[in-house]
Amino acid sequence: MTRHIERSWLSSQDSTDPRTPTGRPLNWGVVATGGIARTVVRDLAMLPDATLHAVSSRFADRAEEFAREFGFRRHYADDGGVPGYAALAQDPDVDVVYVATPHAQHYEVAKAVIEAGKNVLVEKAFTINAHEAQELVDLARARGVFLMEAVWSRFLPSIQRAFEIAGSGELGDVQWVSADLGFPAPKDPMNRIWAVGAGGGALLDLTVYTLLWPVGTLGFPDSLTALGTLNAEGVDEQNILALGYSGGQLATLTSSLLAQGPRVATVAGSEGVLTTVGGINNPSGLRVQRGWDPARTEAFDVVGRGYVYELREVTRCVQQGLAQSPTMPWSHSLSTMRLFDGVRQQLGVRYPNDERASR
Ligand SMILES: NC(=O)c1ccc[n+]([C@@H]2O[C@H](COP(=O)([O-])OP(=O)(O)OC[C@H]3O[C@@H](n4cnc5c(N)ncnc54)[C@H](OP(=O)(O)O)[C@@H]3O)[C@@H](O)[C@H]2O)c1
Repeated sequence: MTRHIERSWLSSQDSTDPRTPTGRPLNWGVVATGGIARTVVRDLAMLPDATLHAVSSRFADRAEEFAREFGFRRHYADDGGVPGYAALAQDPDVDVVYVATPHAQHYEVAKAVIEAGKNVLVEKAFTINAHEAQELVDLARARGVFLMEAVWSRFLPSIQRAFEIAGSGELGDVQWVSADLGFPAPKDPMNRIWAVGAGGGALLDLTVYTLLWPVGTLGFPDSLTALGTLNAEGVDEQNILALGYSGGQLATLTSSLLAQGPRVATVAGSEGVLTTVGGINNPSGLRVQRGWDPARTEAFDVVGRGYVYELREVTRCVQQGLAQSPTMPWSHSLSTMRLFDGVRQQLGVRYPNDERASR
């Protein structure tokens, strides 16, 4: 059976340095001053055609401090009932906004940004559920703005190359895929990762990455069986997903906030096997073995912390007036959120945002 894999996954990776400018400079706004905002902004500063224009926070002191540290020209904060992100969205000089809040706020922040007519890059997981995801996509389509989920790994040369190898036939017919991501997250009740109100749990935080592997090599599955362990708040501490395909192929995904996993992806075909080396999110190498032949390993350098590649893609797409990325299209985020809704139904995980969706 031939399965449709998006063309862009199979094309050779452009070897141009991702810092190379692709058009007019864009003014970036950043919503939130937390962990990933700090990391991604450092990579954003490496793009000559990106200007660190404005940042927003719930708190004025945090916004000001962040702006000073990274050299943003303007800063916004919640004021008199108006959220800082809403003020940032209305800034007439902002071209594109990066949303780096916890998952549960992605929908409301991205909606405000799109309604203000601005382009937007939303952290993963895209939203809490498929209902929110569909609303954002419909709104972006109606307003003609760019919208993308920040699945940065999908743009890395190593992962592009892995999918290219799987699609080339070098492994024969791909028959099964496994992918694991796990680390023990500190049991801090303030940590968004454990909080039901923040959209916590292994699924929305980690499975976004493991799912890339079966999707990039076999497409979205036809069936799914999930097992999970829930904490006292009802979010999944770890989960195992078994994916099935009508052609007989299988995939298993493991995501854990309790255990150190091997953090390895394996793509097994009738003639060969590919294994990641040095982490599943940002592999430093790919090990390929055909039959009983000696294995070869391809090594990869990465620019910055690896976020430069997705930031280049957003920049290029906005400069070219595209509404979505051909490599990370809306259909991927919508299918992912539908699949996650199905997993949560099997595990019994519900978030406060789901109540709004069911009204
Ligand atoms: N791409 C990646 O590699 C990667 C890595 C880690 C996380 N992420 C994603 O990025 C998002 C943020 O994760 P993070 O680790 O940066 O989280 P974090 O360190 O907790 O920071 C989140 C920030 O969001 C803001 N915020 C807005 N509304 C909030 C609310 N109601 N409660 C708490 N914070 C709120 C806060 O900034 P202010 O106080 O300034 O408002 C906070 O510092 C998540 O969706 C996560 O999945 C992506």
